[in-house]
Amino acid sequence: MSMSRPLIIAIDGPSGAGKGTVAREIAQRLRFRHVDTGAMYRAVAWKAQRDGMPLDDEAAVADLARRATFDLATPRVAIDGHDVTREIRTPSIDAAATAVARLPLVRAALVERQRAMGEEGGVVMEGRDIGTVVFPDAAVKIYLDADPAERARRRAHDPAHTGASSQVTDIADALEARDRSDRTRTISPLTTAPDAVVIDTTGLEIPEVVERVLRVIDSAAGGK
Ligand code: DC
Repeated sequence: MSMSRPLIIAIDGPSGAGKGTVAREIAQRLRFRHVDTGAMYRAVAWKAQRDGMPLDDEAAVADLARRATFDLATPRVAIDGHDVTREIRTPSIDAAATAVARLPLVRAALVERQRAMGEEGGVVMEGRDIGTVVFPDAAVKIYLDADPAERARRRAHDPAHTGASSQVTDIADALEARDRSDRTRTISPLTTAPDAVVIDTTGLEIPEVVERVLRVIDSAAGGK
């Protein structure tokens, strides 16, 4: 692949669509940096809870998000020196992260941090609003989706997530509630950028999805 400038690759979509695994693999292949922005919302929620901060104290949580030091070295996630890799993948933080992700000032703070992390290019950034808000000019925008039952099954078998009910139906209900919140919030809702390439990963194995994404990246880079 020939590239005049290191690309920004935006990968968005709902939970369980395969974003994490695919973004990590693409970053490895291209020797790009992988930034999991969901982990930033999770880490902020974790720290707010640990500090006894009410999650609806928007000003305080946003201040925390502006000041925090994030150390994102996939798969490790640390905030202000605390390794929270495991603690942020629990049902309680699932809900807390979705709550803080609705707060406009928190989003503004994290979007600014994410732009700073990606401005040099050479990054695969995954989240919900990367192609729509964080980097609307990203060279490559991918939207990964999958049907809800499959997304719940994947989440149920994801070893990174602990403490969840083993019932796929419970996980499906929780996933649906968080998706609804992500899609209907007034600021930066989860939505497909008009110029994103949508890949439905239902029934696809990860290597197949990775190959498809690499083809999209190749044609984008070739067209520059
Ligand atoms: O991808 P995830 O499940 O780790 O994300 C945690 C929460 O943060 C989820 O409710 C979606 C939200 N989020 C967001 O609103 N914007 C992002 N760029 C990334 C995650």
